[in-house]
Amino acid sequence: MSPAELLALPKVELHCHLEGSVPASLALELARRNGLPAPGTDRGLYEFETLEEFLEDYVAVSGVLRTPDDFTEVAYASLAAGARDGLVYREVAFNPTNHPGVDVADAVEAIGEGIASARAEFGVDARILVAVNREHGADVALGLVRRVVELADPLVVGIGLDHNELVGPPEEFAEAFALAGSAGLGRTAHAGERGDADEVRRTLDVLGVTRIDHGYAVLRDPGLLRRSLDEGVHYATCWSTSQWHAGPAGSPIPPMLAAGLDVSVSSDDPPMLGTGIGAEFLAAGEACGWTLADARAVVLAAAHASFLPGTEKAALLERLTREA
Ligand code: ADE
Ligand code: ZN
Repeated sequence: MSPAELLALPKVELHCHLEGSVPASLALELARRNGLPAPGTDRGLYEFETLEEFLEDYVAVSGVLRTPDDFTEVAYASLAAGARDGLVYREVAFNPTNHPGVDVADAVEAIGEGIASARAEFGVDARILVAVNREHGADVALGLVRRVVELADPLVVGIGLDHNELVGPPEEFAEAFALAGSAGLGRTAHAGERGDADEVRRTLDVLGVTRIDHGYAVLRDPGLLRRSLDEGVHYATCWSTSQWHAGPAGSPIPPMLAAGLDVSVSSDDPPMLGTGIGAEFLAAGEACGWTLADARAVVLAAAHASFLPGTEKAALLERLTREA
């Protein structure tokens, strides 16, 4: 399999953050346009070393997205970049409570316009995951999910839970996630990125998620690994993020795949991590020794684990088969 063949492969990604998809140059431009100081600290934007520094930049960049046009532009530009790497479908997460003063309904509508333009121009499609910033606590999460359920916008297919897992334990969000589940929304949560296997287990127990974002700690607990195989838990992993946290030990994604787990590969926060969905597939493919069929199986795993309603999921699977 050549790099060109892998780049051309139609791809699906389930784990990509809108606010993490703003190139530094666009973040500066949005700040200028909105009359705000340049985002970031003395470190230099996206020059982070720890997850805490990373999230500091992420929140700073979230703050320069102010108008509906800003959301539209970021959604469109990030999907255009994905489409150049063969992306055909993405579930894009955004954190409404990182944008005080911006109404969720307005933001969803604006992101929807960016998606519609990218679909018309490049054929790439997307849906939205409303992400709970766990550092904002249980009450804020519940208020947000109530608002999303009330909105009942078909573009929003699920909810997520992100930010620092060492700060907001899953138990705090049980009520918000139960409400989302009873409204038919898909549920996913970041866990086991920095935290341990117990945190992944508790996330599965109390939040009713069918997917885990990252979940690398699963490898450290044979019982959780067995349970994940039995229950078909999907792990929406990200190559660059996994390497960043693993350090010299190397990415846990090859052993996760070798263990038979249901795994997909996404780009997480492409410009923040200096990556893209194409680069993620190239790096994973090289490390795992993928054939084109192996790479395709990872894409199909993502499509199967998506939160699209049945008929739309069937259409995506049919498209992937047709275009493969
Ligand atoms: N938000 C965006 N990217 C994230 C990550 N890798 N971990 C936690 N929260 C995030
Ligand atoms: Zn993430």
